[in-house]
Amino acid sequence: MRTTAPEGRGAPSAALVAVAGVDYTLKVGSAPLHILRDVSFDVAAAQVVAIVGPSGSGKTSLLMLLGGLERPTKGKVAIAGQDLTGLSEDALAAFRRKTVGIVFQSFYLIPSLSAQDNVSLALEIAEPGLALAEARTRSAAALAAVGLGDRIHHRPAALSGGEQQRVALARALIARPKLLLADEPTGNLDQNTGAQVIELMFDLARQQQAAVIFVTHDPGLAARADRVLTMTRGELTEDRK
Ligand SMILES: Nc1ncnc2c1ncn2[C@@H]1O[C@H](COP(=O)(O)OP(=O)(O)OP(=O)(O)O)[C@@H](O)[C@H]1O
Ligand SMILES: [Mg+2]
Repeated sequence: MRTTAPEGRGAPSAALVAVAGVDYTLKVGSAPLHILRDVSFDVAAAQVVAIVGPSGSGKTSLLMLLGGLERPTKGKVAIAGQDLTGLSEDALAAFRRKTVGIVFQSFYLIPSLSAQDNVSLALEIAEPGLALAEARTRSAAALAAVGLGDRIHHRPAALSGGEQQRVALARALIARPKLLLADEPTGNLDQNTGAQVIELMFDLARQQQAAVIFVTHDPGLAARADRVLTMTRGELTEDRK
């Protein structure tokens, strides 16, 4: 199944995410391990896409390639018109700071910083010239938007799992990324809180016209997305609704 953007030099592509013919192979010992095989798909701005599939099928690996954290062995990954495969390490780091927001399954919050400072730090890194006072005001507002207005001074250890998840979401969205990637963002949450986090992710991303790609094992959450892609042993297919 292919939904690839038209080829051709300078041809404008409406797709925010354009993945074409991607293979991802790791060498483990002497044998190559084929993790992704000929993966191709496009995602438009403001589209919400769920990725489902068995454990070990390659979902996290695909998010890593989309976030510029790993490079494909073959094929092309372009985000917002920029081909990641040709970028230097420095340019990739700049891309990650400005264009993409990532919510990892384990939240990677900095334990010694308050919720507000965790979010603020991401913004200060993305926009180095920004006045500290403005960064703090914006991070407080982002935390209020995820329902944590009265928890901004709490350190991660003093927050529940669901609250930490929402801090991680606020951090991923604070620099207004064009693409939000979330790896099982509700994996550790009860059903109600999980549904709330997904709704927040949809609302905030749609307000910012961002594309959202999230991995989930929950068919009910996947069904809320505009599209569902299924990963099976490194191959990606789409069931048309
Ligand atoms: N750095 C690595 N070295 C060797 N093998 C790896 C590496 N990273 C991933 N793999 C392998 O690649 C396959 C795909 O892993 P990946 O993490 O993408 O799966 P997943 O679909 O996200 O699974 P889960 O649902 O369990 O999170 C797995 O078999 C995994 O063992
Ligand atoms: Mg995974």
